[in-house]
Amino acid sequence: MPKISRKGINMPESPIRKLVPYAEEAHKQGKIVYYLNIGQPDIKTPTIALDAVKVHSLDILAYSRSEGSEDYRRKIAKYYERNSIHVTHNDIIVTTGGSEALLFAFGSIMDEDDEIIIPEPFYANYNGFSTASGVNVVPVISKIEDNFALPPIEEFEKLITPKTKAILICNPGNPTGYLYSKEEIKKLTSIVKKHDLFLIADEVYREFVYDGISHYSILQEPGLENHAIVIDSVSKRYSMCGARIGYLVSKNKEVIKTALKFAQARLSPPTLAQIASEAALETPQSYFDDVIEEYVKRRNILIEELEKIPGVKVAKPNGAFYCIAELPVKNSDDFARWLLESFDYENNTIMVAPAAGFYSTPGVGKNQIRIAYVLNEESLRIAVKILAEALKVYKDQ
Ligand SMILES: Cc1ncc(COP(=O)(O)O)c(C=O)c1O
Repeated sequence: MPKISRKGINMPESPIRKLVPYAEEAHKQGKIVYYLNIGQPDIKTPTIALDAVKVHSLDILAYSRSEGSEDYRRKIAKYYERNSIHVTHNDIIVTTGGSEALLFAFGSIMDEDDEIIIPEPFYANYNGFSTASGVNVVPVISKIEDNFALPPIEEFEKLITPKTKAILICNPGNPTGYLYSKEEIKKLTSIVKKHDLFLIADEVYREFVYDGISHYSILQEPGLENHAIVIDSVSKRYSMCGARIGYLVSKNKEVIKTALKFAQARLSPPTLAQIASEAALETPQSYFDDVIEEYVKRRNILIEELEKIPGVKVAKPNGAFYCIAELPVKNSDDFARWLLESFDYENNTIMVAPAAGFYSTPGVGKNQIRIAYVLNEESLRIAVKILAEALKVYKDQ
């Protein structure tokens, strides 16, 4: 049989999706499964976006421009303006989700064997995008004890080699929920400028910040114009994960020119989804106010309830809708599988994401899980109760 590539063999499995067959089996056995493992919000998509697709007047569902429709990009620039980020439509490439923006960014700035430094735990697919691009991830560990704050900048400096091309952060963070402060962004700015590196910030959760703290984008940082690349997406902002629309944003003209070649090779981002996403920009502020209120309520319940469970340690997130919890277990992979295969509490169980897949340092995060608080208050309370009951009876293998 012809052989598949080394790259293909090395592509990591998604730590979030690999337990799906066990969840399906649990479901077949008649158990009710509460899904805490995946960042698919249960929040309704703004009707204005859905209606735009219903009433469009297209005769032909044609390709759009490779960089996305100009009208849409002009409106996106206005969205950024409202968020005190000064960019024009020429600094934006519309992509098929933030996922494609990440691939374009990696492809535009890194060659095979180049290195990218990423604070871990990080969004697990960064591993996949790095493998697909032939790039090596160099992790710098952030700790639950520090709430996953930016590791000391000296730790980054120690890892810089002639192959280092970029630092990648996720702000606010998936899976940590940590929101980097202006001071932390300034520390990163000084190091990327000193070593002439790119700073990529995945800001797909920009709106999801709590406790009166505001988000500071790397695009707001003076002097970073040629270094900063922002990854963005409509998936979470408007609960439009299925639209598959994101953006790559940079003031660096060479980056945009190069990313555009990748965009041209795949022809165009989805046309109908751009119509929906353009309309979504008109979503009233009250929608976001309600969504944030809901997430703050959920976060507070989740943290309060988790902290009551003996042996559980949790970092309080102030952004996104995830948290990392440390459990009194040796291997959360085994525990997560056991929850689905062998455990139920009054015929209910939960699906969680083992956190080791969010680290690239082997062996780290093995006693942690990521919880996405994308369930309503009642379901969330039941889900944490199930976790507490499960930990009472679980025995490490
Ligand atoms: C941190 C982060 N970046 C990027 C993405 C990719 O999102 P999408 O391709 O749906 O825009 C996700 C999705 O969960 C994410 O959590």
